[in-house]
Amino acid sequence: MKLLIIGASGVLGSRLYNDAIKNKWNVLGTYCSHECEGLFYLDVRDKASLEKVFNFFRPETVVMAGGITDVDLCTLKPKLAMDVNIKGTMNLVKKTKEYDARLVYVSTDYVFDGENGPYKENDKPNPINMYGRTKLEAENIIKSKLKDCLIVRTAQLYGVAERSSAQNSNFTLKIIHNMKSGKNVYAADDLYSTPTYAGSLSEIIIKLIEKKAKGVYHGAGAEFLNRYDYVNKIADIFGLDKRLIQKVKLKDLKLKAKRPKKGGLKIDKVVKGKIAKPYDCKTGLAFLKKDMSYA
Ligand SMILES: NC(=O)c1ccc[n+]([C@@H]2O[C@H](COP(=O)([O-])OP(=O)(O)OC[C@H]3O[C@@H](n4cnc5c(N)ncnc54)[C@H](OP(=O)(O)O)[C@@H]3O)[C@@H](O)[C@H]2O)c1
Repeated sequence: MKLLIIGASGVLGSRLYNDAIKNKWNVLGTYCSHECEGLFYLDVRDKASLEKVFNFFRPETVVMAGGITDVDLCTLKPKLAMDVNIKGTMNLVKKTKEYDARLVYVSTDYVFDGENGPYKENDKPNPINMYGRTKLEAENIIKSKLKDCLIVRTAQLYGVAERSSAQNSNFTLKIIHNMKSGKNVYAADDLYSTPTYAGSLSEIIIKLIEKKAKGVYHGAGAEFLNRYDYVNKIADIFGLDKRLIQKVKLKDLKLKAKRPKKGGLKIDKVVKGKIAKPYDCKTGLAFLKKDMSYA
C-alpha cells in the first residue's frame, strides 16, 4: 500500500504515520507550517505543492488528516477556515482524481448540532459553528465528486503528536499540563462527547483502508460523557489532584465558537463490522500515559 498522509505533523496524522510504517506500508507524510524531519511540505491551498507531492509519490490512498482544526480559530478567521477546509479540499479532490487515488477524509461530530447526540452515520448533519460548516461542506464536495471515497468522522481526539511538539495542544494534554502545574481547570458538566484515543482511531482507519470500505463511518471512543466526568477520569489515570477541577457550565467558558452540547458519535457500525474494539476512557487514557512517557 502506498499511503499519503496529509497532516502527518498533527495528532492523528503522526500516529497513523507510525502505525502504517509498522504495518510495512510505503508511507509519505506531510506537514504544513510545523516542519518535521522526514515529512514533506504540503499546503492544500497551494496547488503546486500538491502536484509536487502527488507526482513524486503517486499514492494509491490519501488520508486527509489535516486542516484548520481549532474550533474557535475557525470562528475568528472564517476566511482561513474556508480557504483550507473547503477550497483546499476541492484542490485535493481534483488531484486525487487526476492520480486515480482513493481519498479517506477525516471529519468530525461537529457536523451535528448537538441537540441529540451521540450520532449515527446517517443522522442529519446541522452544524452550528464555522468549523462544522467547513467540514460538512468538505464532506459534501467529496461525496459529490468521488464515488469511491471514505469519510471517517471522529470526536474529541486525544493523543500526542509524535513527530512535533508544536502540535501537542489538545484539550486532554492541556488539562494534564495545567493540573500537573497546580493550576485550576474548568470543565463543563453540560458538554458531552465520546472522547477518542488517537491510537484507536488510527487502528480503525487502517482496517477500513484494508477492507476498501466506502461511505461514512464513525470512529470514536466507547463512552459518552461530559467534560467534568472526563476530566475526573484523566485525574484518576494520571494521579492528579481533583481539587483543581472546577465544575462549570458551557456558557461560563465564554468560548468564541458555539459547541454542540450533546455531540459525540455512535460506533455500532465499526463494532458490528468487527473493524475495531471500542476503547473506554480508562483504557485510552492509560495508553496515552504510556505514549507520553516515550514522548
Ligand atoms: N482534534 C479533535 O478533537 C478532532 C475532533 C473531531 C475531528 N477531528 C478531525 O480529525 C483530523 C485530525 O485532527 P488532529 O487533531 O489530529 O489535527 P491537528 O493535530 O490539529 O493537526 C492538523 C494537521 O493539519 C496540517 N495542516 C494545517 N493546515 C494545513 C494546510 N493548509 N494544508 C495541509 N495541511 C495542513 C497541520 O500541519 P502543521 O501543523 O505542520 O501546519 C497538522 O499536521 C482533522 O480532520 C480534524 O478535523 C479532530
